[in-house]
Amino acid sequence: MIFYFSGTGNSLYAAQKLYEADGGELIDMASALKEKRFKYNVADGEKIGIVFPVYFYGLPTIVAEFIDQLTLESNENPFIYTVITCGGSIGGADKMLGNLLKQRNLQLNSAFSVEMPSNYVIMYDVPDNEKQNLTLLSAERQIEKIVGLLESDKKGDFVSNRGLSILTPLAYRIYGIYRKTKKFYAIDACTSCGLCEEICPSRSIQLSSGKPEWINGKCSHCSACINRCPTRAIQYGNATKKRGRYVNPNVKFSNMGEEL
Ligand SMILES: Cc1cc2nc3c(=O)[nH]c(=O)nc-3n(C[C@H](O)[C@H](O)[C@H](O)COP(=O)(O)O)c2cc1C
Repeated sequence: MIFYFSGTGNSLYAAQKLYEADGGELIDMASALKEKRFKYNVADGEKIGIVFPVYFYGLPTIVAEFIDQLTLESNENPFIYTVITCGGSIGGADKMLGNLLKQRNLQLNSAFSVEMPSNYVIMYDVPDNEKQNLTLLSAERQIEKIVGLLESDKKGDFVSNRGLSILTPLAYRIYGIYRKTKKFYAIDACTSCGLCEEICPSRSIQLSSGKPEWINGKCSHCSACINRCPTRAIQYGNATKKRGRYVNPNVKFSNMGEEL
């Protein structure tokens, strides 16, 4: 069973690759959270994967809220692993997940990181196409390696890029302050297609007179609305006007953000 969260497809891609290798079920944590589906039966010997992007060296709010309520019903302690995608480094995100799981009487057995193109256009521009392609190729190899390690039930810390993980508590506190919505707006290029409202994992967008409005003071800042808007109409203050947009080119989304 693989639980995943993804704003722009990187983590969905990793989750799909793991699913192809191990089978089971692929569960979108954002949908499960919306529908309050927190209880799952785990078969004997079944592995549990938790796949998501790192945000400010920590967990996206949606992942934290879901794990906080997760119950796994099983005869034995399930083997739990995480694959955390990042633009550079994951800090202590795996440790944060391990602590949350512990509070649910669950144990994180293995942690992996995969570097993929960064999607946080609110803060940085996206890498150019050449860099994106190189990073995606290398990610593919990293995921294959992870599949191999999981097949042989390898336990442990396989995180290769922690960065300045000592800064994790500070970075994560900044996330709490930073993930405000008041700077989001849509320009005239908006065609009122409603995709942003449909895909927002934190239900923070509502169309009003055909235009998106951000109805919650804070959201997860997953950046799906900005990056996946078909007319690049969504902006965040002045920061995103001249920046590119990123969506993982190897995944197809249905409108609800789940895989086809
Ligand atoms: C709010 C936010 C915060 C992020 N923080 C980090 C970070 O601390 N370190 C990092 O390497 N990448 C960071 N990123 C980049 C993403 O983790 C990375 O691009 C990820 O692969 C995106 O996954 P997705 O396409 O599944 O949403 C951040 C992205 C967002 C949207």
